[in-house]
Amino acid sequence: MYKPKVIVTRAVLPSVAKVLLENFLVEFNPSDIPLSESELITACRNSDGILCTVSDQMTHKILRSTNRKVSILSNYGVGVSNIDIECSKQLGLVVTNTPNVLTNSTAELALFLILAVSRRTSYLENKLKKNMWKGFSIVEDLGSSLEGKTLGIIGMGRIGQATALKVQKALGMKVIFFNRSPIEDLAFEAKQLRNLNELLAESDVISLHAPGGSESPILQREHFSLMKRTPILINTARGDIIDQEALIESLKNGVISGAGLDVYLDEPKVPSELLSLNNVTLLPHIGSATNETREAMGMLAVNNLIAHFSDQNYPSRVV
Ligand code: DGY
Repeated sequence: MYKPKVIVTRAVLPSVAKVLLENFLVEFNPSDIPLSESELITACRNSDGILCTVSDQMTHKILRSTNRKVSILSNYGVGVSNIDIECSKQLGLVVTNTPNVLTNSTAELALFLILAVSRRTSYLENKLKKNMWKGFSIVEDLGSSLEGKTLGIIGMGRIGQATALKVQKALGMKVIFFNRSPIEDLAFEAKQLRNLNELLAESDVISLHAPGGSESPILQREHFSLMKRTPILINTARGDIIDQEALIESLKNGVISGAGLDVYLDEPKVPSELLSLNNVTLLPHIGSATNETREAMGMLAVNNLIAHFSDQNYPSRVV
């Protein structure tokens, strides 16, 4: 039986590899080292489908390379800012992603970061591990309470909503949000604000849940001066939605009191200035990194490939 050739750019879980092998002629990447630009160009020439992910920059140059054979990019992830979507459209290249299955794990991580930053746990754990804890103190090591404070969500899609609901239920915070289009029928109490500046002025905690890949960041330098006094900033979405330099300056000069970050501008590079700060919790892009979620994402990515090569409806097609 003819099997389409699929190139898998990064290591996948054994259960996902098994289903891939049952359906396709598969070329895996056992080293798990991200493919270079020239390797991605070769992959486009030598495969019918590519199972790629956030670490693969599927640029205009790669997609437009001559003798391209690939007809589908099945992205292992909901965000597709690693793929030139306009170019894919022009080339008639199908792009699919993995929404829904990672909503809860990403929202759990956002909730964790809110708690970690408000109680300064990264700094304090480090202090303890360095044997610098002198014992219980009434006045040292204080953080901020969250109950009754205001959470401002930027981007009230699936993950924004799941985060808001968890935070409201678990921590008793009020929720306000900014979203480009109006959102009604939310399953919890939340107020939609007319513009981003209003949200910045009212939020004690700001959590971003918008897609990346735009020309300019959502939170630009001038936005930091519009924020309420010393809020906490959480980003589990994409690094390019915040002006990273302005963020670091605001953390250094106390304009914001702390940040919880899971994503960065030029991953896996994290600026040394950010690494040296005491008021941050920094994680290595693990929003969807649970066994359950990574397996569900993998199965969805494979099902998108199966649908493509058998002319069925795609479970989740972007282009
Ligand atoms: C996603 O699915 O977008 C996660 O950030 C992993 O890429």
